[in-house]
Amino acid sequence: MALVTTTEMFKKAYEGGYAIGAFNVNNMEIVQGITEAAGELKSPLILQVSKGARAYANHTYLVKLVEAALVENDIPIALHLDHGPDFETCKSCIDGGFTSVMIDGSHYDFEKNIEVTKEVVEYAHSKGVVVEAELGQLAGIEDDVKVSAADAQYTQPDQVEEFVDKTGVDSLAIAIGTSHGAFKFKPGQKPQLRFDILDEITKRIPNFPIVLHGASSVSQEYVKIIQENGGNLADAIGIPEDMLRQAARSAVCKINIDSDLRLAMTAGIREVLWNKPEAFDPREYLKVGRANIKTLVAHKIKEVLGSDGKA
Ligand code: G3H
Ligand code: 13P
Ligand code: ZN
Repeated sequence: MALVTTTEMFKKAYEGGYAIGAFNVNNMEIVQGITEAAGELKSPLILQVSKGARAYANHTYLVKLVEAALVENDIPIALHLDHGPDFETCKSCIDGGFTSVMIDGSHYDFEKNIEVTKEVVEYAHSKGVVVEAELGQLAGIEDDVKVSAADAQYTQPDQVEEFVDKTGVDSLAIAIGTSHGAFKFKPGQKPQLRFDILDEITKRIPNFPIVLHGASSVSQEYVKIIQENGGNLADAIGIPEDMLRQAARSAVCKINIDSDLRLAMTAGIREVLWNKPEAFDPREYLKVGRANIKTLVAHKIKEVLGSDGKA
């Protein structure tokens, strides 16, 4: 199967009350772990690549790894640029085989965000590629941009209709209380998402696919393994899975997960290296990290996203 855009995936997900997992990929083991799980569960998939991933692994390697996954697994896969910082990066991914890009103008004011998004949409659509944009700002860290909790801003429902109309964008990432990274809430703080804002947004732009960034749940099982095997991740806290299930049943069609993959892989690798200091064959520890990723993604697809059997 060839790479697909997210258009059909989102339409079916919206109508079916489930969401597509968008998982960040940085190397072969991560691509394999994710796609093996999705392939066995017959789930559509979005594999996303950040600016940092392109700098780490090289654009061509990542595209070829995803193409290999398509040969091995008979499921629809969209290849997406995560947090595209500017037109040039988006163009490079559009020209380089991606089927979807995000232009992240969330740090600009409303008018400038519209301007940069529109420019990318015009180019992307002329090449058959779809575009995600963001309104509102999440707390946390992505590549070199750090947004403090104090500076994070919920998406204003009053702005979404104008933004979508003026830009022609295909999906919209919103800020309703999720954040990037493994430390989303302070210890003792009650995790909360603003579903009231999501409802308001859905009323303004019905049938329009919404995206949730910063949606890792930070499995305490993996945090414990990391802690017990020489790591230091005290107080890592994520979004409770029942909230993500609720989001997946709504207008949210794409749920972004990266930190959970990092934790699963790190837990596996740490466990091997901590307990077997004489190990030095990378395959010995990477295969445990890869197996953890597969287990994690299968769990997300079945228990959180509801996308199993939808390929
Ligand atoms: O939202 C950011 C993703 O987790 C990607 O992280 O920019 O460190 O690759 P990265
Ligand atoms: P997490 O850090 O919660 O996994 O979010 C990932 C993300 O939003 C990628 O764009
Ligand atoms: Zn993100």
